[in-house]
Amino acid sequence: MQSMKLLLLLLCVVVAVNTMSVSSMGKVSPRKSGKSAAEKAFKLEVKQLKKMKCKPRLVKVYVADELGETSDYHDKWLFPEVLAVKRCSASYSYCGDNLGRDTKICATTTHKMKNFTIRYLENNNSNNFEYFKLPIKVDSKCDCV
Ligand SMILES: *[C@@H]1O[C@H](CO)[C@@H](O)[C@H](O)[C@H]1NC(C)=O
Ligand SMILES: *[C@@H]1O[C@H](CO)[C@@H](O)[C@H](O)[C@H]1NC(C)=O
Repeated sequence: MQSMKLLLLLLCVVVAVNTMSVSSMGKVSPRKSGKSAAEKAFKLEVKQLKKMKCKPRLVKVYVADELGETSDYHDKWLFPEVLAVKRCSASYSYCGDNLGRDTKICATTTHKMKNFTIRYLENNNSNNFEYFKLPIKVDSKCDCV
C-alpha cells in the first residue's frame, strides 16, 4: 500500500516535469533564443555607449602647440613635452539616445585657464633648469548640445 502511494506520487512528478519541459520547449524556440541573445548584445552595446557619458576627461596636450607662434620657448628643451589636461571630447563621449543614435555632441560649456609649470633648459649644454608658467584652457563642464 505504502509503495503503491509512492509509485503514484512518482508518476505525478514525472508527468508534471514532462508537462513543464514540453511547455517551456514550446515557448523558447531556437530562433527566439537566438534573437534574445542578439537583443542582449544590443543592450550591452548601448549600455557601454552610455557609460562614456559627457564629462571632462584627461587628454594629452602638446606643450609646443600651446606656446604662441612667436614664443622664445620654441628654441628650448621643454619638460614635460605633453600635459594631461581635462577636456570635453566628442569622440570620447556619448550624447545619444537609447537606440545608439548619436543625436547630440558633447561640447564645453565652462572652462578656465590654468597655469601649468614647464621646466626648460636655458642652454642645451647645461644642466641648469628654469621654469615658466604656461596658461592652458581646462574644461570644467561639458554638455550635450
Ligand atoms: C635645444 O634642444 C631642443 C630639443 O632637442 C631643440 O629643439 C632646440 O632647437 C635646441 N636649442 C638650441 C638653441 O640648440
Ligand atoms: C598665470 O601666471 C601668470 C604669471 O605669473 C599670472 O599673471 C596669471 O594671473 C596666472 N593665471 C592664472 C589663471 O592663474
